[in-house]
Amino acid sequence: MQLFIDTANVEEIREAAQLGVIAGVTTNPTLIAREGRNFREVITEITEIVDGPISAEVVGTTKEDMVSEAKELVKIDNNIVIKIPLIPEGLKAIKELAQMGIKTNATLIFSVNQAILAANAGATYVSPFVGRLDDISHDGMELIADVCQVFYNYNYTTQIIAASIRDPIHIAQAAKLGAHIATVPYKLIMQMCKHPLTDLGLESFLKDWEQVKDK
Ligand code: E4P
Repeated sequence: MQLFIDTANVEEIREAAQLGVIAGVTTNPTLIAREGRNFREVITEITEIVDGPISAEVVGTTKEDMVSEAKELVKIDNNIVIKIPLIPEGLKAIKELAQMGIKTNATLIFSVNQAILAANAGATYVSPFVGRLDDISHDGMELIADVCQVFYNYNYTTQIIAASIRDPIHIAQAAKLGAHIATVPYKLIMQMCKHPLTDLGLESFLKDWEQVKDK
């Protein structure tokens, strides 16, 4: 399973890239706003750090606006993927961009039917949101399971990005279910690394080594 980092913070992206575990980056307008920086400038900086798919989201709500934003964004770098909300105008934009060979990530997906529509329109990726469904007492992971089942039933080539991931358990669950990618905040990448038995084991190995190192 590939991991993308879900942030617009370039320091976090740099740190995660050094670990060698991230294959791409996803951003959204909220993550960009959190950094308080110019959108194009941040996206350009990210492309200089990570050589993989980098999702940049459009903010227009008509097909025309989305397509014209997309055309500008892809000029930044070949790795730019256009993130498009799953609304009817978004589907039209996904179709047009697919015809132009521009990659898209259909975002704000909360149902299997939305994922089917995005794939049929030609989306490169779909992003079903786990945490936001959990927030309203729905089982977000069930959505990942259902989208995986349907995409595998019909051999869709659209890749599934488990998004809105809030907990390391979500990542392991999404991997077991067959999601191609999980996009996760930096904090969770670090949590994935941690195990108390690893820390205890290392502590005792180093302590034991002290007794023999000079022999
Ligand atoms: C990524 O594509 C999404 O924008 C992101 O995972 C949303 O996460 P959130 O629901 O924690 O804001």
